[in-house]
Amino acid sequence: MTEPTYLRDTRDGYDKISADYAEKFPTMLVDGPLGRAMLTAFAELVGGAGGGPVVEVGSGPGRVTAFLHSLGVRVSGVDLSPAMVALARRNHPELGFVEGTMTALDLPDGSLAGLLAWYSVIHVPPELHPGVFEEFHRVVAPGGHLLVAFQVGDVPLSFTEAWGHTVSLDFHRLSPDRVTEALEKAGFAMDARLVREPSGDEKVPQAYLLAHRRP
Ligand SMILES: C[S@@+](CC[C@H](N)C(=O)[O-])C[C@H]1O[C@@H](n2cnc3c(N)ncnc32)[C@H](O)[C@@H]1O
Repeated sequence: MTEPTYLRDTRDGYDKISADYAEKFPTMLVDGPLGRAMLTAFAELVGGAGGGPVVEVGSGPGRVTAFLHSLGVRVSGVDLSPAMVALARRNHPELGFVEGTMTALDLPDGSLAGLLAWYSVIHVPPELHPGVFEEFHRVVAPGGHLLVAFQVGDVPLSFTEAWGHTVSLDFHRLSPDRVTEALEKAGFAMDARLVREPSGDEKVPQAYLLAHRRP
């Protein structure tokens, strides 16, 4: 089957920028206190070390995966970009990272206590989100948890150049209402929604949606 262009472009873009990304953000903090608060709540809900496995889809350099690990969560990462997977393995050799796409996860049905998508569904065109959320629903166990983070808005950011590389990278800003609707349709029940104001270089509000798979 031919791979959709958006997946090829996203992989190619992150492969090209991974070295600059690593250099620019060597010890990047995970979001601010509110983002970390949602991650901490998620870590508690999935049961920490005593809980089941958790996967971060779109784990990039592995900083958020490592943050969850520091909270005791049994977590690993999946990313589309081989260069990002290599970077994450270098940064966090104690954790597992594999190549893969959130659109077709190489995971058994109902196998996860939790799934985290931290600024990664932004690279999938919104009209394809229903299919992605069905895939999340397939791999999360009944009662298991989901946390999704994204920038809020209607107008996508499109880059054709990044750090001197020619890329074709789209960052889809999303509507919390529309994402909620699609998650509910896929079989998730919402637990919490946090939308915070932009801070630092951010131009738009940031959203964090916490849900669980309906039993
Ligand atoms: C903005 S970065 C966020 C990385 C990480 N979650 C963090 O916050 O540091 C987005 C990541 O999602 C990955 N990605 C994009 N589309 C993906 C897909 N379909 N499946 C898996 N990973 C994907 C990219 O390769 C990139 O590493």
